Amino acid sequence: MPKKTILITGVAGFIGSNLADRLVRDGHRVVGIDNLSAGILEQVPREVEFHAVDIRSKEAVSIIKKSGADVVFHFAAKNCVPDCQNFPYETADVNIMGTINIFEACRAAGVERVLYAESSAIYEGTDTLPTPETDFTPQTIYAVSKAADHLFARAYQRGFGMKMVGFRYLNVYGPRQDYRRAIPPVMSRFIIRLLMNERPPVYGTGSERRDYIHVDDVNDFHVLCIDNDEVIGKTFNLGQGKNYSGLEILNMIQALLGTNMQPEFVPPIPGGAPANLADITAAKRVGWQPKISLEEGLKGMIKYIQDEIARGNITHSL
Ligand SMILES: NC(=O)c1ccc[n+]([C@@H]2O[C@H](COP(=O)([O-])OP(=O)(O)OC[C@H]3O[C@@H](n4cnc5c(N)ncnc54)[C@H](O)[C@@H]3O)[C@@H](O)[C@H]2O)c1
Repeated sequence: MPKKTILITGVAGFIGSNLADRLVRDGHRVVGIDNLSAGILEQVPREVEFHAVDIRSKEAVSIIKKSGADVVFHFAAKNCVPDCQNFPYETADVNIMGTINIFEACRAAGVERVLYAESSAIYEGTDTLPTPETDFTPQTIYAVSKAADHLFARAYQRGFGMKMVGFRYLNVYGPRQDYRRAIPPVMSRFIIRLLMNERPPVYGTGSERRDYIHVDDVNDFHVLCIDNDEVIGKTFNLGQGKNYSGLEILNMIQALLGTNMQPEFVPPIPGGAPANLADITAAKRVGWQPKISLEEGLKGMIKYIQDEIARGNITHSL
């Protein structure tokens, strides 16, 4: 593939920083934007031309213009679901107005294609499992903000002929998944507690089933979308097409760690659907296939958390 200039918003976050690593390795010039509200500067590879700005700002618009970006990946968002529920105005401001600011900047700068994050939260209200991309049942403030981004992207494609691609991630996991948030994602939560020799907390009964996809698999799809023309104007589910209960995940982690701790059952997190499961036919049709098994991915997560503890970044259980 010819080398390109690729701009990533949310470059200091989980998915953005992993993608930046990959694109730098592949020889692309990478420009990154992040206001560091949740991202970690140390995660941004030093080869990235980094700008600590907000996606809602005029500076972000002029950085996109000056960068000469061929392709923009727009990941920056307010994405902690309970937090979004508590702050609807700010959620809409960042996730909808911020996204429009980035889309407008891309339109003005003539960016070749714009690839942006939606979310499988758009399927919160569904009865259909596995869920195809035609489903559209957002319920929470976060999901509605992502649904609005989807509709705006379609309008930009139709109205201005821009090449837009949307990603509906299921539950992405892997190194740099944000374990610092108020309720850490399930795998980090279990691994950190078990490594601290403490009982892992299970929200609800642990029977809720989730489709987990490794960040490297997701980035394989991102890379495919840089120059594949079949993806234009579409939205893709990115999951494994398999789901696992919280207790199954816990058992797998305990088997890998050689522990046998009884979980501590705590009240469920409100608003969570009993299950999610992606229909990944569309992504497979354009040549993508998830490669990393859950067991292999969990081994990498354990190593990452062990390294974070060794570096002194995690000093107590969450
Ligand atoms: N990780 C998942 O499982 C998952 C699932 C569905 C959807 N998504 C979506 O994928 C995208 C990336 O997710 P992630 O897991 O890497 O999240 P993340 O929180 O790790 O990264 C998001 C980044 O955006 C930055 N940011 C937030 N508001 C900003 C603003 N106003 N201006 C500039 N930067 C800002 C944060 O500092 C952070 O570094 C998000 O849009 C998220 O909603 C992720």
